Amino acid sequence: MRNKIVASLLLAIAWAVQLNAQISESEIEKKIDAVISKLSLEEKVSLCHAQSKFSSAGVPRLGIPELWMSDGPHGVRAEVNWDDWGYANWTNDSITAFPALTCLAATFNPELSFEYGNALGEEARYRRKDVILGPGVNIYRTPLNGRNFEYLGEDPFLSSVMVVPYINGVQKNGVAACVKHFALNNQETWRGNINVEVSDRALYEIYLPAFKAAVTKGKVWSIMGSYNQFRGQYCCHNDLLINKILKGEWKFDGAVITDWGGAHDTKQAALNGTDIEMGTWTDGLTVSQKFAYNDYFLAGPFFESIKNGSIDEKVLNDKVRRILRLMFRTNMNSYKSLGCKNTIEHHVVARKIATEGIVLLKNNNNFFPINPDKKLSIAVIGENATRQTTIGGGSSDLKAQYEISVLDGLKKRYKNATITYSLGYASGLPDYGHEIPSLLDADSLIRAACDIASKADIVLFVGGLNKNHFQDCEGADRLQFGLPFNQNKLMSELKKANNNIGVVLISGNAIEMPWIQDANAIIQAWYLGSDAGYAIADIISGYANPSGKLPFTFPVKLNDNAASSFGKLSYPGDSINQYYKEGILVGYRWHDTKKIKPLFSFGFGLSYTNFTISEIKTDKKEYALGEKIIISCKLTNTGNLDGAEVVQVYIGKQKSKVERALKELKGFKKLYLKKGESKTIEIPLEVNNLAYYDETISDWQIEKGDYEISVGNSSDNITQKLKIAVK
Ligand code: BGC
Repeated sequence: MRNKIVASLLLAIAWAVQLNAQISESEIEKKIDAVISKLSLEEKVSLCHAQSKFSSAGVPRLGIPELWMSDGPHGVRAEVNWDDWGYANWTNDSITAFPALTCLAATFNPELSFEYGNALGEEARYRRKDVILGPGVNIYRTPLNGRNFEYLGEDPFLSSVMVVPYINGVQKNGVAACVKHFALNNQETWRGNINVEVSDRALYEIYLPAFKAAVTKGKVWSIMGSYNQFRGQYCCHNDLLINKILKGEWKFDGAVITDWGGAHDTKQAALNGTDIEMGTWTDGLTVSQKFAYNDYFLAGPFFESIKNGSIDEKVLNDKVRRILRLMFRTNMNSYKSLGCKNTIEHHVVARKIATEGIVLLKNNNNFFPINPDKKLSIAVIGENATRQTTIGGGSSDLKAQYEISVLDGLKKRYKNATITYSLGYASGLPDYGHEIPSLLDADSLIRAACDIASKADIVLFVGGLNKNHFQDCEGADRLQFGLPFNQNKLMSELKKANNNIGVVLISGNAIEMPWIQDANAIIQAWYLGSDAGYAIADIISGYANPSGKLPFTFPVKLNDNAASSFGKLSYPGDSINQYYKEGILVGYRWHDTKKIKPLFSFGFGLSYTNFTISEIKTDKKEYALGEKIIISCKLTNTGNLDGAEVVQVYIGKQKSKVERALKELKGFKKLYLKKGESKTIEIPLEVNNLAYYDETISDWQIEKGDYEISVGNSSDNITQKLKIAVK
């Protein structure tokens, strides 16, 4: 009895603490007023710029702590030196590596996004980080962009739905998410200066929605400006993007942080909304370390401008208010969690996301799953079967406590099989900003691989891209759409040695597949983090049933991609400017509308079981503005295995006064069903989400009239179309 009373008392206290877990927004504002009135001009300015590679100063006199930031979207980066990009070689900073964000997007599962954010937030808190520099939500415009793996795909609706729970999960721990890179940083080539010209419509309908959702629904506490320019102004101090849209239209109340070295001018940074300047002069790639933190645009020169009256102190006070708000939510939040890292729970989350994000692209004659109980000989070929993919890629580089390779994952699962391994091809060491080719002889590698392939029952080729320069890596785009490092040749030689081949592609981007007919089955695995090998073995062995869906289109050839089809000025530009000539027709919107058949379409992904969607209907036929459209349907698992399917709802308008994509994703739902099971589901859509951005009035506009609703399990597999009208 006594134990019971003590337990309920503890519970009550825990509840009280929970209820009090955040101080109210109005209390924060009062505290900020009190703090600002005590700060000297120097102290205020000192909050607005870096004091080290990843921190900005506090005010020790008043007990205001430093603000610590860390990359990056997929896990907390290892400690970096105070003044340069070198790693500090600590021994206590290894972490759980979560799957890359392309994989998270491919799960089409917002609940997993929350778990991702929460686990990452806990790790960040344990590592004493106040701001985690992610997630990235730049739209997948071209398959050559070196950083696509860090983003949530090509669709503004999918990325908006997925980004919100991630932010909520991170911030629940008193750690700020920092959504990046705002905005239009859709390529790495010339990222530091390229000026993007894009229509208002494409800006609002394609490139901004995920940022808007992050701010208005996710209530994100910080945002990172991007390196590039938009309409002639750098995005880290862009009047239209930051002052008018972000802080004006969306009422963002957090802090705008520059990308590292993204500020270029004191007056513009002061007046166009930059709050914290990071990374200027000390980008480690130049010889500019001689510039000290006090030379930053928002440091000494800013101080002088306020002192001599050329910039009003009110401008500074607004920045300080935002920075203090960020601090009260993070490092000065006494209710923040203590955090933890490398826990079993975090690894479970990472593995769950990895498994759910893997996409089965092709599966002739049920090549997969491969039964682990059989005495088979399996030849595993390819560098990606043994390569660590948590390393490299630029700022998202991770020091994982461990990483299970594909080969190790398979060996653990296939205890009855004989597994042989051959490298098959070789890239080089991951080295940021350089390409170091492998010294191994390509033909010898192919011969050795074919030798073991010819003796095996099954060949598993594990290839793709990696995190090297010119691959899936920050700082440069890919140079080719096809597989690098001789892999196409390797595939055709393997086929001659053994035609029972399954392919596992590891990449964050679409690739060209001239050898597609030679592969009996293809799995798209991403950079899957700590438990990569286990997740892949789970899918290959059928321990888990694949349920991932592509978050972007795989074109057959590069010129089928919208951005590339308009020539160099569209992608990558002429080094000074680029024009997004495809406008709103990005990804599947382009392929659908222009009737260009993709290799694999957005939203596509197979399962080891079968599903049917039936009884598709809407609750009404006519809707008024502001109403909800409820689409209902019955999903049945008609196969022999339990599994999950994603029902997708697209909407289009045939007769319109403006250009329209044939259809656009406006709703989806992922559902798990036992074999033979059926469930009726409802997917609600907002009539207001049917609006287009009307450039003639600079506002959203909903056209009245008929709309076509398409329901299916991928953008190119529509089960049924329905008509509704908006009155
Ligand atoms: C990247 C950012 C990153 C920052 C700090 C920049 O080069 O673009 O995404 O957060 O470095 O590492």
